[in-house]
Amino acid sequence: MNIAIVGAQWGDEGKGKIIDILSKDSDFIVRYQGGNNAGHTVVVGGKRYIFHLIPSAILRSNKTCVIGNGVVVDPKALLEEIEVVRKQRIKVDKTNLKISLNSHIVFPYHRVLDKLREEKGTNKIGTTGRGIGPCYSDKVSRNGIRFADLLNPAVFRLKLKDNLKEKNEIFNKVYHFKTFSFQDIYKEYSGYARQLKEFACDTALLLNKAAKNGKSILFEGAQGTFLDLDFGTYPYVTSSNSISGGLCVGTGVSPDKIDKVIGVVKAYTTRVGEGPFPTEFTSGLMDKIRQKGMEYGATTGRPRRCGWFDAVMVRYAITINGISELAVMKLDVLDNLKTIKICTAYKFKGKVCKDFPLDYEVMQKATPIYEEHPGWQEPIAKVATYRLLPLNARKYIERLEKISGANIRYVSIGSKREDTLLRTK
Ligand code: IMO
Ligand code: MG
Repeated sequence: MNIAIVGAQWGDEGKGKIIDILSKDSDFIVRYQGGNNAGHTVVVGGKRYIFHLIPSAILRSNKTCVIGNGVVVDPKALLEEIEVVRKQRIKVDKTNLKISLNSHIVFPYHRVLDKLREEKGTNKIGTTGRGIGPCYSDKVSRNGIRFADLLNPAVFRLKLKDNLKEKNEIFNKVYHFKTFSFQDIYKEYSGYARQLKEFACDTALLLNKAAKNGKSILFEGAQGTFLDLDFGTYPYVTSSNSISGGLCVGTGVSPDKIDKVIGVVKAYTTRVGEGPFPTEFTSGLMDKIRQKGMEYGATTGRPRRCGWFDAVMVRYAITINGISELAVMKLDVLDNLKTIKICTAYKFKGKVCKDFPLDYEVMQKATPIYEEHPGWQEPIAKVATYRLLPLNARKYIERLEKISGANIRYVSIGSKREDTLLRTK
């Protein structure tokens, strides 16, 4: 069975945890887009691991983790991550990590440009500052440098020279910033090439062969539907296609090989970075939920913005991704609330809209229409099965299921692997 796991909100839904659980029964675990802007947290044996580029299943033995062609790879960040994992006495070598020769490489000028645009541009996105946007821009402009190019000294030399010629002009004249030295980057990146060479692979062939031989593949989405370049709250999005459709482009595996798409949502909503957020808390609830849910970015440490569950968004995400099952995460964070709200539609200029608006002004100014549900007001972290949850907690989940339109199969009530309730009908 080949399964895709995608975020159905603005990222940080808890994808890492569901991937960790489902990877037990998968042979290949594949990242298909994004880069080290992602932060996937997995808690195993009391230890907390945060993965940015390496698929979260690296902790399991006998699994092949794949970084697909759709990913942008910062070699420095990747090598640091490999080091951290190896320090935990976990093996990372060519037998369990494969990197697509077609993946694009993040360079220091991408990271600097990302930050300069945020500081000096007029349209602050609140990026993670990891150079993701500029690297994808180069890919689309056809002057990007791929992993295969990095491994070929003659090609790498030529492409880097070409890039620096144009980019140094921009850094100098537009941003009044220092220029980059060809020699320094060439030397640094040739070193990374030597260290990463063993992982190089035509991952599209590898995965297709695996699928043909009946192996199971788990596709690990990063970010979330509303950070998707095409379907998110543009321009406040990331620069890749995080929806399930992105996995075909980002891996070379065709749509007919995907058996199921699982969407991950929080029992409420969070967003980090700029951009519209209709159900954002305006009251003291912001601090309360942020504290209880430890809502600080896993990559940048920034405080996340928090708000009520938005069924308008999740319904749209279910449609766009083809989600048939949902995992609802962090239900325990709502334990103490007397009343819990769900946004069922938006109101703009007297009109009610039930569908996710594509007009930026509507998204920015719409007022959410809420329905209210009584809270359960007791701790649920120790509950062993779904049926043992307080009645109001079950009612809340059942309402989310009905209003979203996809089966809720997993309910998470804590950060550990074990704190995940399986819901069978
Ligand atoms: P995971 O995989 C939450 C957000 C940034 C910013 C926007 C663009 O952990 O869910 P970028 O650096 O990608 O150009 O920033 O996207 N963002 C995320 N927010 N979770 C993530 O990943 C994110 N990756 C990027 O905060 O608003
Ligand atoms: Mg995250």
